[in-house]
Amino acid sequence: MSDNVDPRNRVNELTNREWLIETKSFWRSQAEDDLPDWLDPELLEQFGLWLAEQHGEERAREMMGQLSSSVMWSKAPPRDKLKATHPATFSERDIARLIHLFTKPDQLVLDPFVGSGSTLLACAEADRVGIGIELIEQWVEVASGRMEAAEVPYRLVELEEALGAAAEGAHALIHADSLAALQAMPAECVDFIVTSPPYWSILQKRGEKAAQEREGKGLPTQYSESAADLGNVEDYEEFLERLGDVFVECARVLRAKHYMCVVVSDFRHGPQFHLYHADVARIVEERNEALQLKGLTVLVQDSKNLYPLGIPYCFVGNIHHQFVLIFQRMS
Ligand SMILES: C[S@@+](CC[C@H](N)C(=O)[O-])C[C@H]1O[C@@H](n2cnc3c(N)ncnc32)[C@H](O)[C@@H]1O
Repeated sequence: MSDNVDPRNRVNELTNREWLIETKSFWRSQAEDDLPDWLDPELLEQFGLWLAEQHGEERAREMMGQLSSSVMWSKAPPRDKLKATHPATFSERDIARLIHLFTKPDQLVLDPFVGSGSTLLACAEADRVGIGIELIEQWVEVASGRMEAAEVPYRLVELEEALGAAAEGAHALIHADSLAALQAMPAECVDFIVTSPPYWSILQKRGEKAAQEREGKGLPTQYSESAADLGNVEDYEEFLERLGDVFVECARVLRAKHYMCVVVSDFRHGPQFHLYHADVARIVEERNEALQLKGLTVLVQDSKNLYPLGIPYCFVGNIHHQFVLIFQRMS
């Protein structure tokens, strides 16, 4: 443990000042390839060192604030072609930051919807070990390809081998339905869960510009056509129920007092705007007595394309943020 970590801190390896910065209710999300030129990490580090010389380390940290924590900590690999084939990924930079906030080194991270493997790459970045579950073979192959390209040690394992692989320091990728996989895992075996679940079947429904652009490039606009894919459940209430089943198992495999972060965005379907983040928060709390919502961080995605939706006829918002729902297992 670093000298600056409070001896009472059982959650992470951050100093109290670093932890304070992370409690802000919004983070500026920067995809790796979106950083403006002037935010050169080396220059920024030099600037931080200069500030520390002038004002002392604590004041320098304060002045760098959000900037230092979101830019200087991340060495995530740039977005690659394989990742771009998946229709709905999150940024390793943001996930590594969550992992730093909610785990100690040597703790085990789980993502039950690992998609293109971003969480496993974020684990490698944050020096933690992860287990990822993915239903669709195409995305398992993409995740494997990304791990290999980044030279991150991993094993494509059967369910029963996952904890063993993780104990030996290899990230474990499981090709399975997440509900079945979680049901086969022992209780209280992981330290942190971070995931982004499917957004109902919205990928198929939306006729948005972004989807049209993907189609134009010959890229998939939905995860799969499998009936087991939660992204293909037609009815919204049934979808929430089935997602709730997965979170019941997540609560069981998570150690008591530990955290689960769910990254979600709201969405529109036709004329209706769905507060998906609120629906997920409700379903998780309703179905799990032990899981309690502890907070919500807004991930500002200011560098996304802005489309003139609805203008000049009606209001249609550009959704340029996601929510990180933060739950803790209380007992
Ligand atoms: C929002 S994406 C996650 C993307 C991931 N965070 C990334 O950065 O690549 C949701 C993933 O859940 C997968 N999925 C859908 N239903 C599933 C199920 N029943 N079991 C496991 N994975 C499932 C989809 O194939 C998709 O890759």
